[in-house]
Amino acid sequence: MKAALATAYGGPDVIRIAEVPTPSPKKNEVLIRVHASAVNAADWRLRRANPWFVRLVFGLFKPRRSILGVVFAGEVVGTGADVTKYKKGDRLFGWTSIMGLGGHAQFIALPENGAFAPMPSEMSFTDAAAIPFGFGTARHFLSKANVSKGQRVLIYGASGAVGSAAVQLARSLGAIVTGVCSTRNVELVRSLGASEVIDYTKDDLLAHRDQFDVVFETVGKLPFKDCVSLVKSKGIVITGSEMPAQMMVRAFAGKGGKNVTVVGGTAVESADDMRHLAELWQRQEIRAVIDSTYPLARITEAHARAESWRKTGSVVVTMA
Ligand SMILES: NC(=O)c1ccc[n+]([C@@H]2O[C@H](COP(=O)([O-])OP(=O)(O)OC[C@H]3O[C@@H](n4cnc5c(N)ncnc54)[C@H](OP(=O)(O)O)[C@@H]3O)[C@@H](O)[C@H]2O)c1
Repeated sequence: MKAALATAYGGPDVIRIAEVPTPSPKKNEVLIRVHASAVNAADWRLRRANPWFVRLVFGLFKPRRSILGVVFAGEVVGTGADVTKYKKGDRLFGWTSIMGLGGHAQFIALPENGAFAPMPSEMSFTDAAAIPFGFGTARHFLSKANVSKGQRVLIYGASGAVGSAAVQLARSLGAIVTGVCSTRNVELVRSLGASEVIDYTKDDLLAHRDQFDVVFETVGKLPFKDCVSLVKSKGIVITGSEMPAQMMVRAFAGKGGKNVTVVGGTAVESADDMRHLAELWQRQEIRAVIDSTYPLARITEAHARAESWRKTGSVVVTMA
């Protein structure tokens, strides 16, 4: 099969397409023909070893796993002897796994209990590949913060993969959503369900201080003290994209005496989440936001786009 290999840490140019053996499913695994995947922040961060401690987990001098790709959309083409949940022909979408990776290839073998679920019959593989990363992450943090009907929620970075999903999911939970993005994305964010959009290139964001029950900072670009300033007393700040240096600054900076709960850490994905997202998609409560689509042969360009901080939603890679 063809796969995109990153055998060294570095920029998009470390990736090359190569012929590698097609995996054989173990007893508890399904063999999936991948139709589409996405290049997400997890992929470019692992490829660049950014932050540095990625190396402690994924390999000190070079990556232990050379095929990146944390999400996939594809079709079951084989099953191990003990598999009961899925059969040949089932169309599945979801996570490969952050430790196992492997989505940037034409085939992948995954345990049947993985964080994936059947695709709705009308969903395209391209849409299905664009959903798991942003929506899975946003769902994790919004549910950790107990976002509920009537709450005022600010999503900072509302046009990114996580942000565009967070806007839609918060709205579907009944929250009143304010999105923050640059001028070119204002209409997109409004169309996703934000009742108010703040253009951070023109508007004074901090004029909205003390107004939000929840501030979800999805891109790690807004200083923590500004997040605290925007949230009401007893509100919640979600720092979904915090890097170690930012965590230290936050720890020292404190919350300026304000009573604020901070929600952070690493998102955990599950098959239940994927089933729930499939239902929301079927009820047209959410939609995939796709920045661009590349064939596998052009995955280097997809990586460059994914790490540009200018994409809207997801960058999808098709395997055909
Ligand atoms: N904790 C976890 O488990 C977890 C899970 C997933 C992702 N993450 C992290 O979450 C972060 C976001 O991931 P993503 O895939 O959503 O990113 P992304 O899609 O690459 O974000 C791109 C968006 O960022 C916006 N942006 C760029 N600079 C901005 C600024 N100064 N202010 C406001 N918005 C700005 C851009 O909008 P404009 O062009 O309109 O500015 C663009 O639409 C990454 O750092 C990723 O590592 C963490």
